[in-house]
Amino acid sequence: MDTRVTGYYTAKTAQIMEKYGPGPRVHFHIGHFTPGAQPPTPSSLAELRAGLVAAQERLVAEAVAHWSGVAALGHRGLDVGCGLGGTSLWWAKELGCEVTAVTAVPEHARLVEELAGSAGLTTVRCRVSDAHDTGDQARYDTAMAWEAACYFDRPRWFAGLRRTLRPGGMVFVEDVFVRDPVPWKPVFDRYWRTDVASVDTYRRAAHTAGFTLVDERDLTAETSAFWDWSIAWNAERSRLPGADLPRLRASTAAHRRMRTAWNEGGIEVRLLAFERTGA
Ligand SMILES: C[S@@+](CC[C@H](N)C(=O)[O-])C[C@H]1O[C@@H](n2cnc3c(N)ncnc32)[C@H](O)[C@@H]1O
Repeated sequence: MDTRVTGYYTAKTAQIMEKYGPGPRVHFHIGHFTPGAQPPTPSSLAELRAGLVAAQERLVAEAVAHWSGVAALGHRGLDVGCGLGGTSLWWAKELGCEVTAVTAVPEHARLVEELAGSAGLTTVRCRVSDAHDTGDQARYDTAMAWEAACYFDRPRWFAGLRRTLRPGGMVFVEDVFVRDPVPWKPVFDRYWRTDVASVDTYRRAAHTAGFTLVDERDLTAETSAFWDWSIAWNAERSRLPGADLPRLRASTAAHRRMRTAWNEGGIEVRLLAFERTGA
């Protein structure tokens, strides 16, 4: 994994826990809101945190409900680029699955194990490895990536998953995509150290590796209010003594740009489902 990305996430752990913790299910992805709902009114940090976390959980529930109508979700899952493991724990608890949470950040693996333990889950295990090296076992039914595939080298990732998943296995992706790289790709990538791409780029990489894109769903409208909530969080957080004001101002400026990108359709949020074809 790119050390720029490992360093970024290692340094971000405390901020993620503060904003989206304490768990046990800690997510670091956007959330699902009713399109057109009122932006948050000035609230306490605790209320804003609760609203953000509830929206993240709704996004997972919404995606899983959608995917379960597309294909069998299987019993053995791999959560690639698992962050602090919110989706791994969700999958294990709500679906009764065995989940291997893959992270390249050793500190995150320790935290995911602690959080799974605190939830009484024995079916989540961690693997510290790069996303492109998920193993040759052909034993997993499902691989998923929640706002993590935007960091990966997609041809390498799908080629690796071809060896990791059993025939007929599924890859589920929730992520952001660019329709036209200008102007939003550099703006997004610079802030999050990503390499966002179009849905077509994923489709082609998957096809070359032996996967077919079998389903696509747009959740851009349902996720744009996330930026209002995150900006409201930053405003409230800035009032605390000792707040890191330059960081919070930069974050707010970036999140305002994201809100524009979402509203202009320059960045889209999608759920993609790929099926591993052939033997
Ligand atoms: C936006 S976070 C999403 C985390 C998690 N999936 C979630 O939804 O809460 C992106 C994640 O991708 C992981 N990541 C990025 N590149 C990676 C790579 N090459 N190998 C493994 N993980 C990677 C980061 O460590 C980070 O946890």
